Amino acid sequence: MSNHEDDIVSNASGNTHLQTVIDQQLNNPNRRDAMRRGFGLATLSFLGVGAATSLAACGSDDDPAPAPAPAPAPPPAPVLTFAPVNISSGDEIVVPFGYTSQAILPWGDPIRAGAPAFLRDASQGWQEQEQQVGDNHDGMHFFPLNATADGPGTRSDEGLLVMNHEYINPEYFYAPGSDATDWLLPFTADKVRKGLAAHGVAVAHVRREANGTITHVLASPLNRRITGYTPMELTGPAAGNDLLKTADDPTGREVLGTLNNCAHGYTPWGTYLTCEENFNGYFGWNGTRTPSALENRYGITQAGFGYRWHTADARFDVNATPNEPNRHGWVVEIDPFAPNSKPIKRTALGRFKHENAEHVVATDGTVVVYLGDDERNEYIYKFVSTGKFDATSPRSAANRSLLDTGTLYVAKFDGGTTPGRGTGTWIALVHGQNGLTAANGFADQAAILINTRAAADRVGATMMDRPEWITVNPNRLGEVYCTLTNNNRRGTTPASANNVAGTTSAGSARPAVDAVNPRTNNLWGHIVRWNETNGDPRALAFGWDIFLLAGQPSVTGERAPSANIKADNLFNSPDGLWFDRNGRLWIQSDGSATNTGDFAGNGNNQMLCADPISGEVRRFLVGPAGCEVTGVVMTPDSRTMFVNIQHPGELGGHPNAPRNPPTGQSQVGTVWSENQIARDPTRFSRFPEGGVSGRPRSCTVVIRKNDGGVIGS
Ligand code: FEO
Ligand code: CA
Ligand code: CA
Repeated sequence: MSNHEDDIVSNASGNTHLQTVIDQQLNNPNRRDAMRRGFGLATLSFLGVGAATSLAACGSDDDPAPAPAPAPAPPPAPVLTFAPVNISSGDEIVVPFGYTSQAILPWGDPIRAGAPAFLRDASQGWQEQEQQVGDNHDGMHFFPLNATADGPGTRSDEGLLVMNHEYINPEYFYAPGSDATDWLLPFTADKVRKGLAAHGVAVAHVRREANGTITHVLASPLNRRITGYTPMELTGPAAGNDLLKTADDPTGREVLGTLNNCAHGYTPWGTYLTCEENFNGYFGWNGTRTPSALENRYGITQAGFGYRWHTADARFDVNATPNEPNRHGWVVEIDPFAPNSKPIKRTALGRFKHENAEHVVATDGTVVVYLGDDERNEYIYKFVSTGKFDATSPRSAANRSLLDTGTLYVAKFDGGTTPGRGTGTWIALVHGQNGLTAANGFADQAAILINTRAAADRVGATMMDRPEWITVNPNRLGEVYCTLTNNNRRGTTPASANNVAGTTSAGSARPAVDAVNPRTNNLWGHIVRWNETNGDPRALAFGWDIFLLAGQPSVTGERAPSANIKADNLFNSPDGLWFDRNGRLWIQSDGSATNTGDFAGNGNNQMLCADPISGEVRRFLVGPAGCEVTGVVMTPDSRTMFVNIQHPGELGGHPNAPRNPPTGQSQVGTVWSENQIARDPTRFSRFPEGGVSGRPRSCTVVIRKNDGGVIGS
């Protein structure tokens, strides 16, 4: 956790090296410890860190702000010193010269000793799957263990890697059945349960060996799977509301499982947050139904995303169990150090298609959690706790309930006189305020939290180009970045906005361009940054600018990319976004891998690294064919990086996808159907196993420098 452990990072602004200044100013051991915990970081804003924006001031009452004492300036050096990699459409991981990668924890591997080994024909059922690593790895966090490897600690060589399993790719997930035209038939309740068993979260105890490789400690009692049917508790203002009650749970306080676990968060008290995103896709109905306004607003449709669960399990048929969808779309808190603990759905953080949950602790101990709703024309939120984090007793019961009581806000972005910059406000989603009254359909705070989207519609929040990950700058308290992955509905005509009455169907609005979403048909996405007033995460106003517009430099005018995008760092659809503890900003992509037309020169999905001060962006990693790169974390010493590779082999319009007729020529004919690839699953990608029988499997990739140095340096 120490800044001292980064032996390379430097300050491209030419100001005094951050560590030098910290050492000069914070020679009080108590204050240095506070810095390491994330407190007192407001002091850094006056130190010139994060010079790309102009917000000044220190938000702390107890941190005097003397000018840093003069010191010999360290030689300026770029934050990014690795050699960037070229694009690739291959079926392998590409990392910079001097780095090595290792695949671990693929879908289906045993989660603990005694669990069944994976069978490459995908014939296993839920009984095996619930004891194995789940599918479609996404957000993750590394929780360091203590010396005895049984509780929270600070070690870099041993910890709990906790990760989300977002969804399944049925074409690879189920062995073909008896029907030649439809590999999923017959579709049974057992197949639903196998799908549920592959969702959720995995807790994997891992150890770094002397040679830098990572081993899964199979015998550890801390290994765990949480699935789509693990019992969990609902807490917070909406718990027990009538809209959350079902025949199986008349209390409205106990849910089976968590679904579509996209990105994540963690807390200063050592718990993991898993965020439920596209939960609507699992629901459907048999027979006829006129969906309610609430169902329309969250995208509940007759066939969902085509998973068919509602045809075999009444829990997912909204005609049979109409309130079940309301029990999903929450942020779920999990204690990875207590393998028998019950996960908790925290309703105070709102219900929508949650991407991630990024926390920051204000100087007074208030916990602020930033949240995005990933759908076209949805919103950005933040939760501000009422209670304060007690750093002297991190695992206390009081800390553990901080996410149950607080205020949820939604963001409104306004333009200014300079393109690409502006101001904004946070609008409280509190019953009785801002039109959130019974007369407008919100009977109480629970109604606001269950239908958060409609509440945000009512108060006039800004419709965004699909908010994905949000991350906070560890070197500048109150500075926040968010990926806006793309929006092909921006700027089309006739223009329409989400109805103030909350009756717009999910994703159907056609908003005009605005200051913070400035491009029509935003195919490539962008990254917005804001600074809370006075560097205070609790503030109700902020200034913002656009950090990056992805795209094609050959496109000029209104849809041009920003100047830091050039021929050698092209990518599209930024999604994963994460600051490492040394202040490097990692950007992961989940977009088109066609490598043609609007996406020429982009290759496969990838991970890049940005210097938040200079704006420089370098490509660090390219993923295998058909994958999305999502989820990244490092050990505290920054010498081991974990990156998740999700859905290798997803066909899309990839140049190497098999096509009909099978000419073998790139981009000739129509891409294979799911029924075809299900019967020949090694035809496109065999990542990570390779060989002749390596069915593509989501997995974690471990990256290290060959010399054992800090990643990214
Ligand atoms: Fe699961 Fe918005 O990504
Ligand atoms: Ca994502
Ligand atoms: Ca995405």
